[in-house]
Amino acid sequence: MTPHVIALPGNEALAARLAEHIGAELGAMRTRHFPDGETYVRIESSVRARNVIMVATLDRPNDKILPLLFAAEDARDLGAGRVGLVAPYLAYMRQDQRFRPGEAITSKTFAHILSGAFDYLVTVDPHLHRRSAMGEIYSIAVGVAHAAASVSAWVKHNVSNAVVIGPDAESEQWVAAVALAADSPFAVLEKQRRGDRDVEITVRDLEQFRGRQPVLIDDIISSGRTMETAIRELMTRGFAPPAVVGVHGVFAEDAYQRLLDAGANQIVSTNTVPHVSNAIDVMEIIAEALRNVMI
Ligand code: R5P
Repeated sequence: MTPHVIALPGNEALAARLAEHIGAELGAMRTRHFPDGETYVRIESSVRARNVIMVATLDRPNDKILPLLFAAEDARDLGAGRVGLVAPYLAYMRQDQRFRPGEAITSKTFAHILSGAFDYLVTVDPHLHRRSAMGEIYSIAVGVAHAAASVSAWVKHNVSNAVVIGPDAESEQWVAAVALAADSPFAVLEKQRRGDRDVEITVRDLEQFRGRQPVLIDDIISSGRTMETAIRELMTRGFAPPAVVGVHGVFAEDAYQRLLDAGANQIVSTNTVPHVSNAIDVMEIIAEALRNVMI
């Protein structure tokens, strides 16, 4: 039977595109809050004996996770076959170790929760830093789509004479791949994070790229402090106002405006998190990763 794609609130456009890509039907679900704040969930289409794919991008995850778990369980109760999750942005990947005594390793707990509710997961460029594979924390199959080719195509078509710059050592894996496919040189800055909103960036050895258009690329723009500091450091050293590209444009609080105020000449993200900066479409690569894991 044709699989059913069900959008969690706010994911309707992503779900419709995905259903189109994989030739699935769009299912219907309703959620609302009871007066006391508890969540009501109702799957309104018939999912019996069908494979169900829930679509929920997981920026600002705390309000999303319970409705998502209720919906997954509801689908199973209603007789669905396999129940999968497409989370273009996957939250809780960064607290992957106990940096200070007593801290919760939330990436592991979150993985445990999702692995208990779904048969498989599909996401885009999850933040793997100290871990090398999703299988280290997820016990279900995880399909990972990589945005590097889409990002480098954007760079190639929109920026001439670019130098691709990663704001920290962790970003090297993305910027190296993007730069290679965009036929551009790349460089990586040094970052020290002192707190959630306190970041120091050191710029070294960029003289050879003077005169080029800097394109700052990172996997996540969250508080925006990393990109904001990098923009200011580059401009203080006489570089042109950088273009800023985030695979996942989370833009917490006033991050977007702060990047504009810092001097970014444009800010671009993929559509893993719906935002005005979305300029790079990754639905096709998500559909591809989904096809491989849903069978
Ligand atoms: C680092 O771990 C990530 O690759 C990003 O650099 C980081 O998440 C960006 O965070 P923020 O926007 O809060 O500085």
